Amino acid sequence: MTSILAIYGSPRRKGNTTLLLKKAVEGARAEGAAVEEIVLRDLRMSPCLEIYGCKKTGRCAIKDDFQTVYDMLLACDGLMLASPIFFYTVSAHTKILMDRCQSLWVKRYWLEKTPFGKKEFKRKGLFISAGATRGKRLFDGVLLTVRYFFDALDMELWNSLLYRELDFEGDVLKHQEYLEEAYAAGQQFFHALSSHDPP
Ligand SMILES: Cc1cc2nc3c(=O)[nH]c(=O)nc-3n(C[C@H](O)[C@H](O)[C@H](O)COP(=O)(O)O)c2cc1C
Repeated sequence: MTSILAIYGSPRRKGNTTLLLKKAVEGARAEGAAVEEIVLRDLRMSPCLEIYGCKKTGRCAIKDDFQTVYDMLLACDGLMLASPIFFYTVSAHTKILMDRCQSLWVKRYWLEKTPFGKKEFKRKGLFISAGATRGKRLFDGVLLTVRYFFDALDMELWNSLLYRELDFEGDVLKHQEYLEEAYAAGQQFFHALSSHDPP
């Protein structure tokens, strides 16, 4: 069965990216995906301490909630990640997760010796984001960050849903078309992942 991990990176429980990701989860489930959800603000997760305890086995040495997330990240076929734009990048909650995944980067590039710049990925990721302003370059920084985060997870950035001019909690509810787009992206994501299932 195709398994998807959905990670909510907003500090808000009913924020814009949360509502969008919930729709994508609904869409994927409606098609038959098994979706597990993680709300980062509910976890106890230290930032990366840069001690490289992961160098031996590829597993982070800090014993906190990241250990469970690590296993879930390795087990899923695809990841749906949502984060608001904070100072042109992801939220602090999301960035802490990303930095802890340096352990997966170490596993992939140092321990398994994957060549740098390899363009084929075994898995896929969908990224959802929202920002308050409308600048042309609003998502430039975050897309670079997310692309390389997914790379460490052996995932290509399959698609990104990026919404400007959403500021207050629930602003996205004024845009049913965004929520519909997220639902459809969840459906399509499931099919994109399933097409790689063995017959
Ligand atoms: C700490 C902080 C930093 C922010 N930085 C930006 C920014 O650089 N650019 C922008 O357009 N909006 C910025 N915003 C606004 C949020 O991106 C916006 O409110 C978004 O809709 C929040 O999404 P959420 O409801 O999913 O958390 C910032 C908000 C906060 C609280």
